[in-house]
Formats: sequence, structure tokens, C-alpha cells
Amino acid sequence: MRTHKCGELNKKQLGETVALCGWVHKRRDHGGVIFIDLRDRAGLVQVVVNPDLAETFAIAEGVRSEYVLRVEGVVRDRLEGTVNPNMATGEIEILVSHIEVLNESETPPFPIESDIEVNEEMRLRYRYIDLRKKDMLAKMTVRRDVARNLRNFLDDQDFFEMETPILTKATPEGARDYIVPSRTHANSFFALPQSPQLYKQLLMMAGMDKYYQIVRCFRDEDLRADRQPEFTQLDIETSFMDEDEIMQVMEDMMRNLFKKVIDVDLGDSFPRMTHAEAMSRFGSDKPDMRIPLELVDIADEMKAVDFKVFSGPANDPKGRVAALRIPNGSKLSRKDIDVYTKYVSIYGARGLAYIKVNDRDAGIEGLQSPIVKFAPAEVWEAVLQKTGAQTGDLIFFGADKTTVVNEALGALRVKVGLDLNLLEGDWKPLWVIDFPMFEWDEKGSRWNAIHHPFTAPSCSKEELQANPGEALSRAYDLVLNGTEVGGGSIRINKTDMQAIVLNILGIGEQEANDKFGFLLEALKYGCPPHGGMAYGLDRLVMLMTGSSSIREVIAFPKTQSAACPLVDAPAPVSEAQLKELHIKLNKVVKEEKEAS
Ligand code: AMO
Ligand code: AMP
Repeated sequence: MRTHKCGELNKKQLGETVALCGWVHKRRDHGGVIFIDLRDRAGLVQVVVNPDLAETFAIAEGVRSEYVLRVEGVVRDRLEGTVNPNMATGEIEILVSHIEVLNESETPPFPIESDIEVNEEMRLRYRYIDLRKKDMLAKMTVRRDVARNLRNFLDDQDFFEMETPILTKATPEGARDYIVPSRTHANSFFALPQSPQLYKQLLMMAGMDKYYQIVRCFRDEDLRADRQPEFTQLDIETSFMDEDEIMQVMEDMMRNLFKKVIDVDLGDSFPRMTHAEAMSRFGSDKPDMRIPLELVDIADEMKAVDFKVFSGPANDPKGRVAALRIPNGSKLSRKDIDVYTKYVSIYGARGLAYIKVNDRDAGIEGLQSPIVKFAPAEVWEAVLQKTGAQTGDLIFFGADKTTVVNEALGALRVKVGLDLNLLEGDWKPLWVIDFPMFEWDEKGSRWNAIHHPFTAPSCSKEELQANPGEALSRAYDLVLNGTEVGGGSIRINKTDMQAIVLNILGIGEQEANDKFGFLLEALKYGCPPHGGMAYGLDRLVMLMTGSSSIREVIAFPKTQSAACPLVDAPAPVSEAQLKELHIKLNKVVKEEKEAS
């Protein structure tokens, strides 16, 4: 049908007769001459139709945006003064001899222009049109390049690409499962995998040595900009490698990826930070290292002050009082501070105390704040010294349960850093290591795994049992610019250790056997030491393309409410289908839904 793609033509084809197929991006009538920008995946080219070819001209007059055409013509230089340096094909144009309309198009619901704002629901409803936009094509291209680069790298390193089941059993990664009813086994359900975690461990037990897969994972959890109910992991597992060896290969892979795909140097050796240090300095286990702001503990200074808001948490072992110094922050207005106070309230903070340092040399007289009166001068002097405050700075304070202070000031640190343009450097990878094994769930009154229940502890069985809250794991997360792009660990490879961990998690022997009996059994048949990692591929591509959400880099994403407006899923199914699946709907819910 065609000899070339539209966007690949240039002066090399001057004088050649070419045949092109594509969509009408724009059509302009210029005093009897018609110009059409014809578009395909490779780009745009200008097509010129002269009125002297009456029949062809008549067809050109009738075409509209998004019509699909086949044109034949000669490549020629553009006239002087009409060269378009912003267009790859801007030096040439096609003088048309023949046009065929391959298909007409209704007026598209929105223009195929990257810089025109369109409601997202609409974009997703007509995603096949949205994907025609240049910026969307560019994002999909980076995504293709990323997957290709990762495959090439891992293939070269002798990793073995394998698939694992989608219809499976619950795989605990901390989210709710998507379940699928079985027709052949009445009242039984498959679960879609939250990750291939258990299968990849079984593959190590099967002797596959080094495995990888680019794989869809399913998690029914609250959605955010960097979370989708179905998303893609680059999933990796290795045998006979310790965490340093695994992290080394992973770093090499990331460096190679960023260099080859977007020409970015991620640096020689990624820094490592313990989880405890990350929480203490940045209030987050995924700190954005481009932001030069840090939390400073001031509980010691606040223990004896009259201000209960501060002295309460300062004397509470589960409390934290922290300061966040903003260099030159005293220029922030009352209104700005109100906005930040509202912002931290999302994270449960009950207020946001602050001090403006108007004159560092004037002691307490130089401070402007509603809370200065609550503590003596020497307390404030100690705070100024600890935070390194200078004239012109502002200090924010958080005082509450440690988790609230960390979340609130951790998020505030990022927001202020971005608002005030404080970012240093473009790309700051960081390994976060030495995570605790467990966190205490107050509500459920139980331990939860911080990673998943198959993560190996760094301590002995005895130490783990004696003090689960103190135990650290052999897990590592890779954080890039404040986004957790990947996580992994060395796994438990001994039955007794696995049983202890499940027991600490409150999973009794019966339940453990029901849920993971196959794994516990497999551990008995010569399970090698093994470990691995999984990356969120969508998150990586989001960062590499500078996108604001992973929805931007997924061809057909779900909305915030986990639905697909294009195919209209999820949707009801017929009574017959339900019957076959042995399912009776809850009529009340059904009728309520229909009524609303
Ligand atoms: P984890 O649960 O940390 O680990 O997932 C690995 C990576 O997957 C990405 N990710 C997501 N991306 C988009 N939407 C989501 N809902 C979502 N959830 C997770 C993140 C995350 O770092 N089996 C383990 C890995 C291992 O131990 O090898 C696992 O799945 O970027
Ligand atoms: P109040 O005495 O309640 O008016 O609080 C005095 C200042 O402390 C105000 O600026 C509040 O925003 C702030 N504040 C109140 N509770 C907290 C808290 N838990 N952490 C930090 N600042 C707070």
C-alpha cells in the first residue's frame, strides 16, 4: 500500500514518487491550494494538492480531520520561506498526483493535540484517539524501549524468561485479591496474582537459577497517581546470590537502562541508607534525595516545656517532636502557611507550628511565632542551633505520634521542596535497606509483614522469636526521586524459619498449610538460597517520561475508581453465566444499585 512512512521522509527522497498512508492531522485551504498534514506513527508530512488536478482536488476538498488517506506524489523541496524547522519533515513536501480516501472519520471528540487539556474520563473513553497524540506516542515508545532494554540486558546476563499462572491462589503482598469464580469447581475461586512471588521462588527450587518476567500483577487497593489495580512488574529472582550481589546486578541494569533509553547517568554506586535513618531524617521510607530539607528531632529540648502540644509527644515513647528548617522560608506569607497547615492535616497533623527567624543574632527577640511564648529562650536557642537556622529561615514543627509526624512532615518536606524550587540534581537513586521485619498493627493487635511473609530476617530464629519488633529483614527497596520503583529481598529458604515467621504473623499451622502448604513442602526438597526483586515498570516509565501519573504510560489504564470507561468494565453478567458459576447475586445490593 505504501512505500514510506510519512514521518521518515526527508531531502534524501527528493524527486522520488512515494505512496503514503495516514490520518489527516490538519487540512488548510490556501487560495486554491490545499495543504494536508498527513500523520502516521513516524510523524507528519505536508501534502500539497493543486487545483489543476480537478478530480484529486475535489477529493482533497472533501477530506476532514482524521480521515484515513492513501496519497501518491513526488517529494519536493518546500518553497523558500515555507521551510518548517520544528518539523522533522519540514524541509520537504509531497506534491500529490493521486488521493484515495481509505476511510472517513466522524469529528473526533477532542483534537489530536498534546497541549489541549481534555477531561481524563473522556480521554480514556476514546483512548484509541488519545493515543494518536504525539506525546502519548512518545510515552508508549519509551515504554517499548524500556521493556526491550531490560529484556536485552537480562537475556545477556543469562536470566531465563518464564511465564507464571494468572489464574492462581492468593499471593499475599498486602492488598485485596481480585478473584475469579470457577465453573468446574463449584464454590471455589481463583485469585489473580498480586505478584508472581511464590511461583518465582518455586522456579528457584526447580533449579532455574536466574528468572525474569515482564508480568501483569493485580491488586485491589486504593488507587493513587502511582497505583493501578493491574500494573506491570519486571520480576526477577536468582539463586546463590547474596543481597550485595543482587543489588550490584540491579544497579548495572538500571544504569544501562537510563543511559541507553534517556541518556541519563545514574552515577557509579547508588547510595544506601537504613530504613531507620530514612525515617528519622526524612520521615519517609522513600525519601526524595533531590530535596535538601531534613527533619531534626527536638524531643529532648521539649520534654519540660509548658506547651502540652510539644511536651506530650516529647515524653511519649511512641511520640515524636521534629523540626523542619526551610532556608529563606520567612518570606512565606500567613496564607502560604495556612495552605501548608491544611496540607499536613490530610496526614492527620492537628496543627503546624512555625517560627520565622527574622534576626538570628537577636536571640528570642528575633523570632516571630505564636509559640515562642511557650518556652524559654534557651530552649529556642538549642532548637536554632540543632536545625542550623539562619536569619531569613522558617522552621516548621510537628508534634504527635511518630507515624503522624513522619507522614505529615515527610510529605510537607516534599511539597515545600517542590513549591520553592529547592530541588538539587535531576536523578537521585537510593537503596533503602535494613527494614524492620514487622510493624505492629494497633487496630488488629497483631504483627504485619513490612515486605511479604517470605522475606528473610537478618537475625537468628531465636532472636526473631524473642523480639519480633526489633528484627530487621534482608530486604532492599530502590527509590528514585521519592518514588519506590522496586523492592526485593533474600527469601527464607528453610521450613522452620518460614514456620516461625508465619506464626509471628498470627497465621496458625492449619491456615499456613491451607494457604502456603505447597511452599512449605517445597522448602523441604532442596531449596537453594535465593532472592530477587520486582520493579514497577509503569512507575519507571512514568519517571523516565516525566509523567504525572502511571495512567499516562499505560495504554489502557483504569480510572481512579478502578473501571475502564472504554469497554465499560466491570459490567454485570447474564443470569445464565452466573448460574453456571454457581453464583447468586445479593438482590438487595443489586436492586439498590439499579435504583441509584
Ligand atoms: P512490591 O509489592 O514492593 O514487591 O512490588 C514491587 C514494585 O511494584 C510496583 N507496584 C505498583 N505499581 C503500580 N501499581 C500498583 N498497585 C503497584 N504495587 C506495587 C512498585 C513496587 O516497588 N514480590 C515482591 C517483590 C520481591 O520481593 O521480589 C513485590 O511484589 O514499584
Ligand atoms: P494552639 O495553641 O493549639 O493554637 O497551637 C499553637 C500552634 O501550634 C499553632 O500554630 C498550631 O498550628 C500548632 N500546632 C497545634 N498542634 C500541633 C501539632 N500536633 N504539631 C505541630 N504543631 C501544632
